[in-house]
Amino acid sequence: MIRPGSDPEAIALAARALAAGELIGLPTETVYGLAADASSDAAVAKVYAAKKRPADHPLIVHVTDAARVPEFAREVPDFAQRLIDAFWPGPLTLILPRRPDVAAAAAGGQDSIGLRCPAHPVAQAILAAAWRDGVHGVAAPSANRFGRVSPTTAQHVTDELGARLLVIDGGACDVGIESTIVDCTRGLPVLLRPGVLDRAALDAAAGVALHDRDDPQLKQAAPRASGTLASHYAPSARVTLMDADELAGALASLAEQVVRMPGQPLPALYARAPLHRPEGCAGLVIRRMPDGAEAVAHELFAVLRELDALNVAGIWIERPPADAAWDGVRDRLQRAAA
Ligand code: TXA
Ligand code: MG
Repeated sequence: MIRPGSDPEAIALAARALAAGELIGLPTETVYGLAADASSDAAVAKVYAAKKRPADHPLIVHVTDAARVPEFAREVPDFAQRLIDAFWPGPLTLILPRRPDVAAAAAGGQDSIGLRCPAHPVAQAILAAAWRDGVHGVAAPSANRFGRVSPTTAQHVTDELGARLLVIDGGACDVGIESTIVDCTRGLPVLLRPGVLDRAALDAAAGVALHDRDDPQLKQAAPRASGTLASHYAPSARVTLMDADELAGALASLAEQVVRMPGQPLPALYARAPLHRPEGCAGLVIRRMPDGAEAVAHELFAVLRELDALNVAGIWIERPPADAAWDGVRDRLQRAAA
């Protein structure tokens, strides 16, 4: 059941559902979340069941504002506070030491907690209304089944999880890929998952350069994060990343094969480079990738879903440029192709 986020009745309904231990589809500026009262173990268990997600993969808890952080976090290092000051509300999640008495199920039993304050006005309205109904934190992983592409529209959520779930429609997500995650439990900031936030801006705000999760200087192993599994965000069609010249070569040999074997299944292409549909490949789908990383992030998951729904023989995607602005998109594409 999709209800418009512009309708105050829908916001009130969503808040009441959360307070009653039910799940809702929550729009945020990154992707849609599958939301539950973070303090209710039973509600959180429904999230894991709906997603078919292993119970030891922790969920992000969403809060109305930075003032809520001490309710969940035992300690906030200075660099973490500076990141909060710079980027909240927004597409940034911080992993902080968890107060032992709160949100244990949502945290997947870890002694840390992921906290995020989303900027989307509909998310803000739902969080505020839920807070008035007694729900102080809303656990919400992306509203997809485990291992699948995150939803960026209300319809995607319904497609993933069924029409009985109440989904509040906040439009297509602006950002389009999941939040940047910074682990703040190890005395220095560690980037667990890149998003759209600029790496240099994160370093500047933290006052210290972020470490990479596989930095050999880090002695303690990285905490478990399903968004950091090698294969994740995967459509059913096989995704292959290629440089522009490889893509042109693959297209040329496809054209030769089609001459020999007309009617064979064709892949779909998503590339910045201008590519021409070879003769005899009338059904070949070529989707033009925008030039900027932000524009690609915005449409990426919707495009993967669209191309996947065509039941193509595979999805060939032009490898994104190497510079830092593309870190988030490159990360999602590499996982989709793994
Ligand atoms: O943009 C987002 O972050 C979206 C929206 C809905 O807010 N949420 C999202 O949640 O992407 P999810 O569960 O799909 O991805 C969150 C990632 C997971 O990989 C999870 O394992 C990790 O964050 N995570 C959450 N809490 C953690 C913790 N305490 N320690 C380590 N990793 C944690
Ligand atoms: Mg996810």
